[in-house]
Amino acid sequence: KLVDLAHYSHYMQKEIFEQGSAVANTLEERITNNCMLEIETFGDQVEAVRILACGTSYYAGMVARIWLESMGIPCEAEIASEFRYRNPVVPDNALVVAISQSGETADTLAALNQASKLGYKYSLAICNSPFSQMTRVTDLVLHTRAGPEISVASTKAFTTQLVSLLLLMIALAKRRGMTVDEEAEIVSELRALPSRIEALLQMDKDIAELSDYFADKEHTLFLGRGTHYPIALEGALKLKEISYIHADAYPAGELKHGPLALIDAKTPTIAVAPNNHLLAKLKANIQEVRARGGKLFVFSDSGTPIKSDELIEVIEVVKSGPFTSPIIHTIALQLLAYHVAVTKGNDVDNPRNLAKSVTVE
Ligand code: G6P
Repeated sequence: KLVDLAHYSHYMQKEIFEQGSAVANTLEERITNNCMLEIETFGDQVEAVRILACGTSYYAGMVARIWLESMGIPCEAEIASEFRYRNPVVPDNALVVAISQSGETADTLAALNQASKLGYKYSLAICNSPFSQMTRVTDLVLHTRAGPEISVASTKAFTTQLVSLLLLMIALAKRRGMTVDEEAEIVSELRALPSRIEALLQMDKDIAELSDYFADKEHTLFLGRGTHYPIALEGALKLKEISYIHADAYPAGELKHGPLALIDAKTPTIAVAPNNHLLAKLKANIQEVRARGGKLFVFSDSGTPIKSDELIEVIEVVKSGPFTSPIIHTIALQLLAYHVAVTKGNDVDNPRNLAKSVTVE
């Protein structure tokens, strides 16, 4: 391999630990003390956004959809392999955003092609590979500067995609009346992010201690709400990909519509539970699981009023602002999946049946 493992055991581990600097690099020269420097976008012409991606990159798109909508920008996120075979209605002055680590994913490229045929006016690639196919077919490119990602399971590409999507959000929202103060608040969260990531990574040993519990389990349920529902999906995907434990993620409010039937002493639940406006709702869902005798691992942050007991284990992650908390929670779940896979003796960097870049349909 061209990239040295240094003192790490696996590329995935190395890439998880590089996320502080990957985020800092992605932000470099794009923000200052309290505002975002201009990134090239389509200004105030954009009236709607459609995000297309596959796998982990799609989950970044799902988070961004919530962000953009909260700024008054209509947005849909869709799996590229579905979009490419549909004929959706295209809004006026719509921007299509493709998100991809490799820039070579066949379905995402085909979806971009479909978007241009359908009449999307503008296109942007958020991509980690500066010379990839994708960067040649869109009008603009926002480069995630994660550096080469070797492990099949994506980590630092995802977190830098989220950072890039926040920059895109600011760029578009500024034209729609985002105030200087609102911008400064998000920028200050972003500036604090690399050091918060380093602080989170200090929890590595604590999270590793959880891996024994999961190593002999066959199923795990992940729950989240709002921007942390896609993070639950990403946590479940990481666990599936490298530990081969069947994992499903649900928006917590859907628990009662099915997955609750699966809860028993052998099926643990992981709740992504930041202390935000949805916490009261999520707490009720946690109690629903607990009442059925299901073990819970609750990834909270400081101040989350949930207590550990014989069925609930609270893991307090580093507190961060509302926009960057999905990133912090993601990294905790990456560490969990990593350690479970290591405990099981799996080939962490090259999980069975999977490829890093899927260039065929
Ligand atoms: C493969 C990889 C995933 C990745 C997905 C999309 O399935 O194993 O880690 O998320 O492709 O790849 P892209 O390069 O388009 O982000």
